[in-house]
Amino acid sequence: MKKMQKLFALALISVMALGAFGCGAKEETPENPSAEGIFTPGTYTAEETGHNGPVKVTVTVTENEIEKIEVDAAEETPAIAEPAIDGIIDDILASQGLGVDAVTGATVSSNAVIAAVTAALKEAGADIEALKQIKVEKEKTEVSDKEADIVIIGAGGAGMSAAVEAASAGKSVIIVEKMPIVGGNTNRATGGINASETSIQETEGIEDSTDTYYDDTFKGGKEENDPELLRVMVENSASAVDWLNELGAGLTRVSLSGGATNPRIHTPADGSAVGPVVVEVLQNRLKELGVEILMETTVTKILEEEGQATGVEAATIDGSTFLIKADAVIIAAGGFGANSDMVESFRPDLVGFSTTNHAGATGDGIELGQAVNAALDDIEHIQIHPTTDPESGYMFTEGLRGDGAILLNTEGKRFTDELLTRDVVSANILKQTGGIAYLVTNEVMKEENAALAGYIKKGYAVECETLKDVAEAIGAEEAAVTETMSKYLDAVTSGTDEEFGRTHLTQSLEEGPYYILKVTPGIHHTMGGLKIDTETHVINVDGEIIKGLYAAGEVTGGVHGANRIGGNAMTDIIVFGRIAGQTAVNELNR
Ligand code: FAD
Ligand code: FUM
Repeated sequence: MKKMQKLFALALISVMALGAFGCGAKEETPENPSAEGIFTPGTYTAEETGHNGPVKVTVTVTENEIEKIEVDAAEETPAIAEPAIDGIIDDILASQGLGVDAVTGATVSSNAVIAAVTAALKEAGADIEALKQIKVEKEKTEVSDKEADIVIIGAGGAGMSAAVEAASAGKSVIIVEKMPIVGGNTNRATGGINASETSIQETEGIEDSTDTYYDDTFKGGKEENDPELLRVMVENSASAVDWLNELGAGLTRVSLSGGATNPRIHTPADGSAVGPVVVEVLQNRLKELGVEILMETTVTKILEEEGQATGVEAATIDGSTFLIKADAVIIAAGGFGANSDMVESFRPDLVGFSTTNHAGATGDGIELGQAVNAALDDIEHIQIHPTTDPESGYMFTEGLRGDGAILLNTEGKRFTDELLTRDVVSANILKQTGGIAYLVTNEVMKEENAALAGYIKKGYAVECETLKDVAEAIGAEEAAVTETMSKYLDAVTSGTDEEFGRTHLTQSLEEGPYYILKVTPGIHHTMGGLKIDTETHVINVDGEIIKGLYAAGEVTGGVHGANRIGGNAMTDIIVFGRIAGQTAVNELNR
């Protein structure tokens, strides 16, 4: 991330902020005898821990003014952290106070910046409690109605892919995004994107076929997938990866995900998370194309006249409402994995599970669609991911198991083929003591997988030098762990896992240090949603196309059937996001 620098924004100082000069004044103490000003003039630095690494701030103050704040947050994810940090700095400079809130979706980075600026200002002698009382006063925005050829609900991977296609074909596009950052759940995607018969597989000497990909997905989905949608997804998978790579994503590493016969999950070369790079390249392309994204704006209604979608009604964060008139509306608002009421209504058995999803995954798109008579497909199919942090719900990628990690229970024993589909692995974990398991990884794996290195850096893993330490970390007998690891070594050496039938045996896990991650299943993906056809038209409850209305991504149902294979959501959103943009353009041109 570039160094962020914000200059004092004089025009934005609110009347309330001006009060700061009085109430934020330095306390008179023996160390600070002259207390006329708020700060001791100078430049102060402080550092806090962000999401991925250190967040450093340099704050320059005069006697009565926070003049400049520079932030170096090079390790944070740009698409997520940059707008949040920019907004916080703007608010602090505008209000001259610390009454700022963390930005939803970028809470850890935001809190790190707020804490670091607070520490720097404390060093400058300010009365921090007084500064915390000062909040920025935002003027109510008046938004006038707008017009575009196409309006897209949601700036996640599906919405942005649709926008790139439509804007590249010369159409005017407006994207409406309710959160303060773009990217939705796509920002969180880690393990990769599935595709078959790609040039990258060919270079790696991996034999795979689109038919095998289809069969794996159909089997994984318990044969409940819509065969036509699935066929479109797999046949367009290689071109989806090519398209992302042409945009600069650099997805050149191929690994294995649960339920896949062959390695076909594509990630960045260092094994780091796929989502942030996809969001970044799509966002960059949209900037080049001049597509407008209305941030912190929620679509509340789809407008229709005589059965044809004609735009949307939207509300800004301060409640101002306005209309966007358009000849085509694309719903790309994501799933409902963060809406516990909705999850409970379709799957009462999942009450109490944590979620891996971003806060905006609340199923708005499904409700918006239903309000114009859209039909639903597979809505009861909700996936739990086997390996999430029991405390926070943070997901540890399936890619770790694909790269060689194994699962032990609290008794120090393996209990499953770790690469079965995630419904089966989740069910097997839930059968263990406390519904808990431990992912065992080691230094060799850490060096080859940037995602694992990130989890270790963030403090999720317990580092163990020896198997005795591993046993202690998970509360098992040392002899049980030693026996399990020795049997696993035999399986890797002989190429046969007699106990559980795992066929992908790439890491012997013979040497430490080991990194142990405690895991339990968490709500992860909503397979069901709006019913669409292969051209992404939304289908109504009478089985007819709703004219001018399209949908793509996790908001739709049918592609994944009863259980999604890891890596297939990214394929789904890019393939059908692009098709939605193309279909809308073609029909506008008719
Ligand atoms: P999103 O990316 O969620 O975007 C939808 C957007 O719509 C959001 O920004 C949301 O704020 C916005 N929105 C919602 N309602 C409104 C409204 N009313 N008005 C305006 N805007 C609105 N899949 C894989 O294939 N591979 C992986 O490695 C992978 N890893 C994952 C890891 C995690 C932790 C999670 C949570 C998911 C993962 N998935 C993965 C699944 C995948 O990331 C998602 O299914 C996919 O990104 C959804 O994309 P989308 O564009 O449909 O929705
Ligand atoms: O485990 C993961 O990286 C998640 C992948 C997915 O949901 O497809």
